[in-house]
Amino acid sequence: MRNFLSVNDAPNVPELVAKAAQMKANPFGFEALGRRKTLGLLFFNPSLRTRISTVKAAQNLGMETIVMNVTQDSWQLETEDGAVMDGGKAEHVKEAAAVIGSYCDVLAVRSFPGLVDREEDYQEKILQAFVQYSGKPVINMESATLHPLQSLTDLLTIEEFKKVERAKIVLSWAPHVKPLPQAVSNSFAQWVNHTNHELVIAAPEGMELSTEYAGKAEVLNDQAVALDGAHFVYAKNWSSYQHYGQIADHPDWIIDQTKMNLTQEAFFMHCLPVRRNVVVSDEVMDSDQAIHIQQASNRTWAAQAVLHSILEKL
Ligand code: CP
Repeated sequence: MRNFLSVNDAPNVPELVAKAAQMKANPFGFEALGRRKTLGLLFFNPSLRTRISTVKAAQNLGMETIVMNVTQDSWQLETEDGAVMDGGKAEHVKEAAAVIGSYCDVLAVRSFPGLVDREEDYQEKILQAFVQYSGKPVINMESATLHPLQSLTDLLTIEEFKKVERAKIVLSWAPHVKPLPQAVSNSFAQWVNHTNHELVIAAPEGMELSTEYAGKAEVLNDQAVALDGAHFVYAKNWSSYQHYGQIADHPDWIIDQTKMNLTQEAFFMHCLPVRRNVVVSDEVMDSDQAIHIQQASNRTWAAQAVLHSILEKL
């Protein structure tokens, strides 16, 4: 594997999920692979899970890590070609990416969308600039539109907990107080569409995901109908794709125990961080059906599988 930007970089999704399980079973079995190799982690936005689990994954493979909170600790980066840089942005991404690439063997980048201009966000300018100018493999640690490390984790978690071979998985839009990216949900749909599981996406009218990512999923505007008979409920808020970046006011879309009772004793999943009693009730979060902690814990093994796949091709 050269880069890990989306599911399209995974040569074989089930094999990559199996590799993540292999890393979990034997975390230190490949310590020699990353010896004297450096992973540079660049954060343009906050992170708890991605930051710690990716560092841990690299350490398990014998790598050194350098972490930078770019927007706080470095120069503001210009991304436009031909820009006259007489404003607040002191460095062009062309130089920044090339210089950081010269210090590191693999780069990982987190860069969220602005949620104002859909066309601009969906161009993935920051991520693509690091691919183009760093000269090194790049891992997407959540970009404007996708979060593939999260999705690989999600598939590993579903594989561990599934009780039937073909599970019904419901990705449900949930309420939130501020506009959030579509990245986790786009990516989750894209990855589940590479499995044999049934995917149903529940979203209020106007909050449907891009059809490019929803793919073959059934899309329903009725949450109760969607939840009927589900084996997994994945709750996530996202802002509107159609009315780009706008939020919707549907507090009744919260996942509570009454909704979970519509399912086949479904497991509850969320990528975290989650706002309790806005997105999901305490009762669900604190129940035995909630597997969000196991899910977050699996982030290490997903990142380790991806790093392993990149390192073995370096
Ligand atoms: N799920 C996830 O990516 O968590 P962080 O934003 O804390 O990294």
